[in-house]
Amino acid sequence: MNNTIIPYGKQNITQKDIDAVIAALQSDYLTQGPRIKDFEDQFAKYVGSKYAVAVANGTAALHLCTLALGVKEGDKVITTPITFAASANCIRYCGGEVVFSDIDPSTYLLDIEKVKTLLESVPKGTYKGIIPVDFAGRAVDLEAFRKLADEYNLWIIEDACHAPGGYFVDANKNKQRCGNSNFANLAIFSFHPVKHIACGEGGMVTTNDTDLYQKLLALRTHGITKNETEYSNSLEFACGQSEHFNQYPGWYMEMQTLGFNYRITDFQAALGTSQLQRANDGLEKRRTIASNYANAFNELSFIKGQSGVVAGHAYHLYIIEVEDRLGLYNYLRKHNIFAQIHYIPCHLMPYYKQFGWKEGDMPNSEKYYKKCISLPIYPTLTYEEQDFVINKIRSFYNL
Ligand SMILES: Cc1ncc(COP(=O)(O)O)c(C=O)c1O
Repeated sequence: MNNTIIPYGKQNITQKDIDAVIAALQSDYLTQGPRIKDFEDQFAKYVGSKYAVAVANGTAALHLCTLALGVKEGDKVITTPITFAASANCIRYCGGEVVFSDIDPSTYLLDIEKVKTLLESVPKGTYKGIIPVDFAGRAVDLEAFRKLADEYNLWIIEDACHAPGGYFVDANKNKQRCGNSNFANLAIFSFHPVKHIACGEGGMVTTNDTDLYQKLLALRTHGITKNETEYSNSLEFACGQSEHFNQYPGWYMEMQTLGFNYRITDFQAALGTSQLQRANDGLEKRRTIASNYANAFNELSFIKGQSGVVAGHAYHLYIIEVEDRLGLYNYLRKHNIFAQIHYIPCHLMPYYKQFGWKEGDMPNSEKYYKKCISLPIYPTLTYEEQDFVINKIRSFYNL
């Protein structure tokens, strides 16, 4: 049936999105205009956090978090190997040491029991923080992680790139939305085109902590502040003359810390805000697609595991674990179905191997990597296309 490629993920751009971007391009601001704050306010409301800071991409969001938390040379931080490298790299950007801890094979998420064992095996104070990832869109139980983190005085950055709109249910049966920062100190999102909300490139940090929020704002723009209550240079110096001055002049600002240009543009923010209005519809479509896959594969013996139907899952990815994964991947590609592998375990990337990580260190992640494959899932995937994918998988296994 198919001459066009069916990718594993894809953006959905409507005429409304295009109009919103055009309006931004025709306005007075290409960057640092009112659309950024608007995007931040609406996004904070969507996830249920107090603050949101829009940035250039998800990697910049992670870097700003490790900077704001003061990660420094040699600080040990725990994360999962089954994630995009940026979740770990942000620790290295600040000179910290990445300590990988294995996944729970039934959820594919960082296994809290293994993290506990790691923390118990060394004196308190050895570790500084944890970066759990809502991998594939499945929400981490951050209430449990917070309890553990408090025992060891650790901070938490929730990497929620895969999970806007996702949630877990806490001990009091309340839904806790990914990124609401009720348990994590900071949470981050990416607006890369395959994600739920596309800005081209874009990212967001969310938090409920006023102090961290102020730090993020400054670090996003070169460590510059324009808040005169924070100035440390004298009024006389700022004015550049020794008389006829009584307030800081309009041009004055201070660079007080080493920051970056991690800003997003106004037209990207306009696209993000427009996409956000349809985020819940997209989520519903992803859930329907996931449920169709689950029904199609439930009884099949060649499938050893799959994302399945899980409450609160945001289904950025739908993953199955299969025999002869390479054969299936190549067969699907031959039929223009571009499934993908998420992820090659991060600790076995040559960059991380140089720190001593080796095969056998993370048995669950390594076993998972040998079998996993991510099937097409995105809001505009049609029923016929999904059927085509399911039938091709069945035919590869001679069903
Ligand atoms: C889990 C995770 N963390 C971080 C990132 C980095 O986001 P970006 O590509 O926007 O820099 C990604 C993006 O692929 C991701 O999937």
